[in-house]
Amino acid sequence: MRFPQASTLPRWRQKVQYILNPLDYLDRGLQQSPDIVNAPVMGHHDILLLISHPQGIQQLLTSDTKQFFAPRNDLLRPIVGEFSLFYLEDSPHRQKRKLLLPPFHGDRIHQYGHLICQLAEQILDRLEVGTHFTARSLMQTVSLEVILKAVFGLSEGERFDEIKQTIVELTDAFKSPLTSGALFLPILQKSWGGLSPWYSFLQLKQKINNLMAMEIRDRRKEDLSDRADILSLLLSARDEEGQPMTDLELQDQLFTLLLAGHETTATAIAWALYWIHRQPKIKETLRQELDAIEATTDPMVLFKLPYLSAVCSETLRIYPVAILTSPREVREPVTLLGYDLQPGMRIYASIYGLHRREELYPKPLEFRPERFLERTFTPYEFIPFGGGARRCIGEMLALWEMKLALATIIGKYELKLASDRPEIPKRRGVTLAPDRGVEMVAQGRRN
Ligand code: HEM
Repeated sequence: MRFPQASTLPRWRQKVQYILNPLDYLDRGLQQSPDIVNAPVMGHHDILLLISHPQGIQQLLTSDTKQFFAPRNDLLRPIVGEFSLFYLEDSPHRQKRKLLLPPFHGDRIHQYGHLICQLAEQILDRLEVGTHFTARSLMQTVSLEVILKAVFGLSEGERFDEIKQTIVELTDAFKSPLTSGALFLPILQKSWGGLSPWYSFLQLKQKINNLMAMEIRDRRKEDLSDRADILSLLLSARDEEGQPMTDLELQDQLFTLLLAGHETTATAIAWALYWIHRQPKIKETLRQELDAIEATTDPMVLFKLPYLSAVCSETLRIYPVAILTSPREVREPVTLLGYDLQPGMRIYASIYGLHRREELYPKPLEFRPERFLERTFTPYEFIPFGGGARRCIGEMLALWEMKLALATIIGKYELKLASDRPEIPKRRGVTLAPDRGVEMVAQGRRN
């Protein structure tokens, strides 16, 4: 059976369209076929299927890994490095995930609750009444500091500032379609005599790696028994043969966490601020919920607030920060949604396509947090963090940060949008972010 095609354009033109205007491309594909569509826009695959049907996604993410293998991401290798979680596969990938997951869950994450609230407060307090600012950049400061302090265990100082500044420059480079394009077209991963955005990217990455190498070297000399951050934990970890991770391995993992972790979360918080301020009723309902609890509340109470949680879910539904999951590769002939798949085919779960399904999310273009209070969605109906073997390891940290930063900001400060013009989602690297970054104006503290 022939697969429905996302577009009849030649492959190279589809690729360009997908890089420059991903949602337009995906919307056209969904119009052709809402469940499964062939969209050969990444790598050299003739068949590259995007699945937006919950049952198809469930089969893809939970089936025997022999049928749907979770391969390493070749295109990301020059960016994140050969030891990165994104580039590992099979049992080395499973082993490293086992090592990296615990510090991202439970008590380890909860101890950062007060830090997140304090950081949000410190940063918002610096804004004088009338100051114009971009929510995405401001929230990037919060999420970057959380990662550097809580996850890497760095304390403020020269190195902390230098890493912070360099990573902001590096992520800003992905605003350019040329740099974003390099994530999909290896031909753009060229230095062209030092003139290309790719060259600047490599320079910045090298600078961050050097700074991390210095931190790793210093940390190796310390007594790590009292430290709870990820870097210390990884430094103490040993593999099955009792060997520690090498400096290069550590650098790649740290760089991956930095890159995957801070901009995604900052973008999600900025989107939430946009929706909350665009619809006064939402801000009012959120305030009622926040005002009904003590100002000094335990972060866990904030985390469990139903309406705040619904606002965060709806934010991650309507414009998911990541529009696709990582790919799967068919390893054995298998049937999916009535189609026969052959070894070698590439398949992605389309987070965007799933979150736009009318029967799951009536009037999907409307931002309506109540839908998350009216019904519960299964892990295959709502997947902002993906699922299965490569599910996001930073999910808990991201939600913890999103909810606590929003509770602090909405509970304690008055802000407004700088203009009535709607924000449009635009590609930033592999993520989808508000084009103008959500421009806002500070209006002072509420109390
Ligand atoms: C709102 C914020 C975030 C969103 C929407 C997000 C989304 C995602 C998605 C969709 C994936 C691919 C999942 C799949 O293929 O099934 C992923 C993978 C990943 N994420 Fe996140 N993420 C966020 C925050 C974070 C944070 C805070 C960290 C860490 C500090 C992080 C680290 C990672 C890593 C390391 C992977 C690769 C996992 C693997 O390949 O095994 N992410 N993320």
